[in-house]
Amino acid sequence: MLPHSLSLLQLLFLASFALAANWTATPFVPPAIPLAVKSPYLQTWMLQGTAEGSLNSGWESFRDGTIIAWLGILRVDGQPYVWMGDPQGKNTATQKSMTFTPTRTMITLTCGPVDLTATFLTPIEPTDLVNQSIPFSYLSVEVVANDANTHQVQLYTDVTGEWLISGGTQPQSDQLFQWQATTGTTVNYQFSLQNQTQFLEVGGRARYGSVVYSTTQVSGLTYEVGPDTVLRPGFISSGALNNTVDTQFRAISDMWPVFAFAHDLGVVGSTATTPVVYTIGHVRDPLVQVLNVPNINSLRGSYYLTRYSSTPDLVTALLSDYPNTLARAMNFDENLTTAAFAVTPQDSDYEDVLALSVRQLFGNIEITAGSNGTTHDPTDIMAFMRDGPTNTVDIIYSIWPALLFTNPAIGRYLLEPVLAYQLANPVQGGYAIHDIGASLYPNVTGPSNGSYPVEECGNQLIMALSYTQKTSDNSLITKYQSLYDQFATYLTQNGLYMASQYSADGFNGQLANQTNLAVKSIVALKAASEIFQILGNNDKSQQYNSVATSFLQQWQAIAISSDKSHYTLSYGDNPSWGLLYNLYADLLLGFGMFPQSVYQTQTEWYATKISNYGIQLDSRSTDAETDWQLWTAATVTDQTLRTNMIGLVKKYASSRINNLAFPDRYNSLNGQMSTYYGRTVVGGHFAPLIVSQVQGNSTNSSGGNNNGGKSGNTSGEHPIGSPVLPVAVTMLAALVYAALM
Ligand SMILES: *[C@@H]1O[C@H](CO)[C@@H](O)[C@H](O)[C@H]1NC(C)=O
Ligand SMILES: *[C@@H]1O[C@H](CO)[C@@H](O)[C@H](O)[C@H]1NC(C)=O
Ligand SMILES: *[C@@H]1O[C@H](CO)[C@@H](O)[C@H](O)[C@H]1NC(C)=O
Ligand SMILES: *[C@@H]1O[C@H](CO)[C@@H](O)[C@H](O)[C@H]1NC(C)=O
Ligand SMILES: *[C@@H]1O[C@H](CO)[C@@H](O)[C@H](O)[C@H]1NC(C)=O
Ligand SMILES: *[C@@H]1O[C@H](CO)[C@@H](O)[C@H](O)[C@H]1NC(C)=O
Ligand SMILES: *[C@@H]1O[C@H](CO)[C@@H](O)[C@H](O)[C@H]1NC(C)=O
Ligand SMILES: *[C@@H]1O[C@H](CO)[C@@H](O)[C@H](O)[C@H]1NC(C)=O
Ligand SMILES: *[C@@H]1O[C@H](CO)[C@@H](O)[C@H](O)[C@H]1NC(C)=O
Ligand SMILES: *[C@@H]1O[C@H](CO)[C@@H](O)[C@H](O)[C@H]1NC(C)=O
Ligand SMILES: *[C@@H]1O[C@H](CO)[C@@H](O)[C@H](O)[C@H]1NC(C)=O
Ligand SMILES: *[C@@H]1O[C@H](CO)[C@@H](O)[C@H](O)[C@H]1NC(C)=O
Repeated sequence: MLPHSLSLLQLLFLASFALAANWTATPFVPPAIPLAVKSPYLQTWMLQGTAEGSLNSGWESFRDGTIIAWLGILRVDGQPYVWMGDPQGKNTATQKSMTFTPTRTMITLTCGPVDLTATFLTPIEPTDLVNQSIPFSYLSVEVVANDANTHQVQLYTDVTGEWLISGGTQPQSDQLFQWQATTGTTVNYQFSLQNQTQFLEVGGRARYGSVVYSTTQVSGLTYEVGPDTVLRPGFISSGALNNTVDTQFRAISDMWPVFAFAHDLGVVGSTATTPVVYTIGHVRDPLVQVLNVPNINSLRGSYYLTRYSSTPDLVTALLSDYPNTLARAMNFDENLTTAAFAVTPQDSDYEDVLALSVRQLFGNIEITAGSNGTTHDPTDIMAFMRDGPTNTVDIIYSIWPALLFTNPAIGRYLLEPVLAYQLANPVQGGYAIHDIGASLYPNVTGPSNGSYPVEECGNQLIMALSYTQKTSDNSLITKYQSLYDQFATYLTQNGLYMASQYSADGFNGQLANQTNLAVKSIVALKAASEIFQILGNNDKSQQYNSVATSFLQQWQAIAISSDKSHYTLSYGDNPSWGLLYNLYADLLLGFGMFPQSVYQTQTEWYATKISNYGIQLDSRSTDAETDWQLWTAATVTDQTLRTNMIGLVKKYASSRINNLAFPDRYNSLNGQMSTYYGRTVVGGHFAPLIVSQVQGNSTNSSGGNNNGGKSGNTSGEHPIGSPVLPVAVTMLAALVYAALM
């Protein structure tokens, strides 16, 4: 035998062995399991990849893989079982199952004669700005005997200073930190770095703010702050802590101070114990500063500060509201799952992909109120997104379907600082800026000089009309109408034939005459026409409408390949191609401008381009993007292809090839992630959900070019703008949608 093929066989054997975890995963094993993911700096995950990755197979991680320790020990009849974050990886407790939903991760482990279930709940409540802005997540633990006997049980958890700053390749755990414990109706630990710098981020972590770890004061609770090597063995031997606080402030890794709680659960039998509930949060005040944007309050605090000015009050409210919060979370999960099921009733792939996307999306968006240092103004609302340059407009566009589904006002709050900047600082050339913060989050210091003129002009117009359609609130387009006019003028001059520039997919380089960007221009000019119609300016409305119509005519002739098999990536480059995902906006806004033949041609073309793990973004590289694939899936005319495209994104996400927070860009041939992980763009996965709603509502049957409700036939070649879904299912989705709004 050739050694070479032997080792290949061995590798295959080892790979299949490594995959054979003994626990069940529902719906699947993701690259990283979300545990506490509620702000850019509250990001605690359990990495998976090819390793077994049970909750007690090692330490938890920040989104980038650096360690964040969260330890859990259960003492059963005097025997210790490490059930969470086992540093020795001794696996004294055996994981049985892991289940995740959009808001929750539930893990059950057997600890000898009892089973323990840990529920990690991150509330996602976008319609309630106070709740949504609270940078806290819950852990709830319950225990039940798995034999016919009763057992004496004590529960222990602790966290380290790594929740502030962690090791990784450049260890930072030599940073000094300080802490305090407060006791009342709740027991709270609050700890922070000694040397804090406001608005400074290093290695993805904020260099200011505090971590807050809490639980309700109950009988049988003991607490203690001290060295890990004292507290952990002390609990294991006695089952309790000493209610003392080590006040020798020191470095995170200097005799590792840990912040511990122990609960004596007493005698546990076949009835599950009342859950022990903890909250963990990362608070900063101020949250961000916004420099160089005139006419706005530059100092911004978390929106929840409009209701809670003290952290202990907040924590008390959070802990007492846990049962209701859990009920609301289950309702959110149910709502989303039902809506997703309506898009692809064939299988659960779509709901599964969405379930993994939700916490990551909202964990990167912060809702703020303007602050004067002490008081926060509830009427002055803006949102900030940490994903590359702050509030990158094409990322807001990518996640727009998720915002539309949950709360379009958050979309407006993200756009507001960008538009406010531009109103005060007209950009030379009259086009839309790319973002509001070139410097590292959360120091928001003004836009980067990126060149995405057609991309961002188009995005602004499309989102402005979409927001207005959905909310019937005309104040956005009224306030910024002069900008929308400039952007439409820019597109009139540059939107069809464009100089070499970036699109949202900057990583594939610049290109002139981009077919997909021109689609965006055409839809955006039509959107401008609608905007000025609403504003009562019929002249402008007609002007932009006729440009849109004329561009569309020209585009059809220059954008298609000479053999008419597909639309090219750039005009005249016959072999080139790409996902024409901007067609989605035509459906989203209910226009149906583009002829059905365009949707049909692309659908047939995509079907020939399917690779192992999906369809690459364009002919320049084999890299694929999860968000634009799902946007495109929403535009194809064939339900089977749509289901397959969604299924391939699920296949990639469940491949166990990667081990960081849901990476969005990857090689479509081998499933290897490429560079990006933990980003908001997973919000783009909501795209098929929203278009199915538009489609379900559409009744326009007058025009051959229109995608709205042509025949009501559920089979055959309808773009998603017509009822490709069974009418009953679509109506159900519309109802769910309406209920969510
Ligand atoms: C799975 O269970 C088997 C049988 O109990 C055991 O030998 C094996 O070590 C377990 N594998 C892991 C990864 O825990
Ligand atoms: C505090 O942190 C800042 C930013 O990292 C650094 O420049 C400064 O030297 C630090 N100060 C002390 C006393 O360590
Ligand atoms: C934030 O940006 C401003 C303006 O560029 C700069 O003066 C300040 O030092 C920055 N703050 C941090 C923490 O980087
Ligand atoms: C509690 O205090 C006792 C007496 O000082 C000590 O022996 C024990 O290790 C302590 N336990 C913990 C968990 O710190
Ligand atoms: C979250 O929202 C619910 C429902 O509006 C409210 O009852 C609850 O108090 C909110 N939570 C907090 C911590 O304010
Ligand atoms: C969706 O949420 C709304 C509002 O919370 C609720 O009234 C409705 O029953 C939910 N629908 C489903 C299917 O869960
Ligand atoms: C902030 O505003 C509040 C309410 O208007 C006012 O009472 C307070 O004095 C202000 N604080 C500062 C530092 O300006
Ligand atoms: C970017 O720089 C160019 C050249 O200096 C300038 O014309 C343009 O206005 C700048 N764009 C932005 C958004 O500042
Ligand atoms: C764009 O296409 C037009 C028409 O084919 C051509 O004249 C023009 O040179 C192209 N622009 C660039 C920058 O290549
Ligand atoms: C559906 O169409 C009606 C009539 O055009 C409109 O009033 C309503 O807002 C639409 N609903 C949605 C969810 O788009
Ligand atoms: C229906 O489609 C036709 C043809 O595209 C269009 O002229 C008309 O305005 C549409 N009607 C509505 C209500 O959208
Ligand atoms: C729908 O279209 C298919 C194929 O075009 C046809 O076989 C079927 O009879 C149509 N169904 C209805 C209800 O019109």
